[in-house]
Amino acid sequence: MIKAAEFARRREDLLHMTGAGSIVLVSAATEKTRNSDVLYPFRQDSDFLYLTGFNEPEAVLVLFTEKGASKAVLFCRPQDPDREIWDGKRAGIAGAVSDFGMAQAHPIDELNKRLPDLLQTADKIYYNVGCEPKFDRQVMSWMNQLHDTKGAHIPGELVSLEHNLHELRLFKSRDEVRAMRKAAKVAVEAHVAAMRRAPTAKNEAELHAELLRVFYRNQCRWSYQPIVGAGDNACVLHYIDNNQAINDGDLILMDAGCESQGYASDITRTFPANGRFSPEQKAIYELVLEAQLAALEEIKPGSKWLAAHHAVVRTLTAGLVELGLLSGEIDELIDLEAYKEFYMHKTGHWLGLDVHDVGDYTIDGESRQLEAGMALTVEPGLYIAPDCDSVEPRWRGIGVRIEDDVVVTKNGHEILSSDLPKTVVEIERLMAG
Ligand code: GLY
Ligand code: MN
Ligand code: MN
Repeated sequence: MIKAAEFARRREDLLHMTGAGSIVLVSAATEKTRNSDVLYPFRQDSDFLYLTGFNEPEAVLVLFTEKGASKAVLFCRPQDPDREIWDGKRAGIAGAVSDFGMAQAHPIDELNKRLPDLLQTADKIYYNVGCEPKFDRQVMSWMNQLHDTKGAHIPGELVSLEHNLHELRLFKSRDEVRAMRKAAKVAVEAHVAAMRRAPTAKNEAELHAELLRVFYRNQCRWSYQPIVGAGDNACVLHYIDNNQAINDGDLILMDAGCESQGYASDITRTFPANGRFSPEQKAIYELVLEAQLAALEEIKPGSKWLAAHHAVVRTLTAGLVELGLLSGEIDELIDLEAYKEFYMHKTGHWLGLDVHDVGDYTIDGESRQLEAGMALTVEPGLYIAPDCDSVEPRWRGIGVRIEDDVVVTKNGHEILSSDLPKTVVEIERLMAG
């Protein structure tokens, strides 16, 4: 578990970055209605979760420095026996202090009364400017109140919090990596269960159900809607219907991950429904695997973020020429981006509390260097559209992606999802067993 001391350290680090005279405001996520009295499952705002570990809606965190020490004040829902009969337990004001390390806590209903006075102590207000219209309006109303108050000190700057906070979130601590290992381990177990199920499954929905069964049995929730695409559906990058028939001879692309303590895994495997790759499926699969291994070679401190993508593009282009799906000179094909007909996305993204996690990919317009503690996915693919008439019919409708979760270490990297079979031999063996 991530401990209260780590949350306190994150808050302190953030105040260090925002500097003297700053006050930081972070709002919890709001509950979203699905229809009439039914809500979507609550998911805490990742910035708020990162700084508090507090998993309730209707809360605002306020951070500032007082007499040289950083101070955290939480506005949250007070305990309410009547409401708790309907909605479950709340930490309440006392719990926010005792269990979440807050210096003070107040009822959320007192936010409008107390905030203007707190803001008066600051010169710069940091918050996620422009992200939540309702919160923007609240901040403006507090500023309006200060302007209407004779002699009030008006903070001179409103500054977007994202840059500082997201730079902190980009580097994972030991306990964050532990949570991500757990999320990857559970997702690996889910993928294995679904792959074992595939030869007898008649519909994509059965594999989707298998993934969710393993997630929920491990007290995890999905980190994004799983993708279970059989046959041509493997070529639809954001396919989430997961309700079509699985036919003998189909290749199935399954992209699924879960959350542990809010930290995501994001894993893709592609495998034959009947347990045996056809020659064409195998050729495309092994090319994507070769590209993925080339990309993983680049995941180490000092490598440029884009180096893995460049390695993938080169490997895929050369392989597509060899297989006869592209023709021409490799460097020229890369310059012309000919591969984009079959590989139209990037090779990965940061991974953390958000599945597409926060953090800059470039610094001063240049691809940034990888450093220990960064976590990312490595996920090349090839998608040959069912109606692609520039290739022989035997290649059409094959979609392959291979995605692993990786943490950059001092000397290289750790693959969090390495227990999931990946070679053709491993996959066929798993499915036969
Ligand atoms: N599952 C979303 C992604 O791979 O980026
Ligand atoms: Mn994915
Ligand atoms: Mn991904």
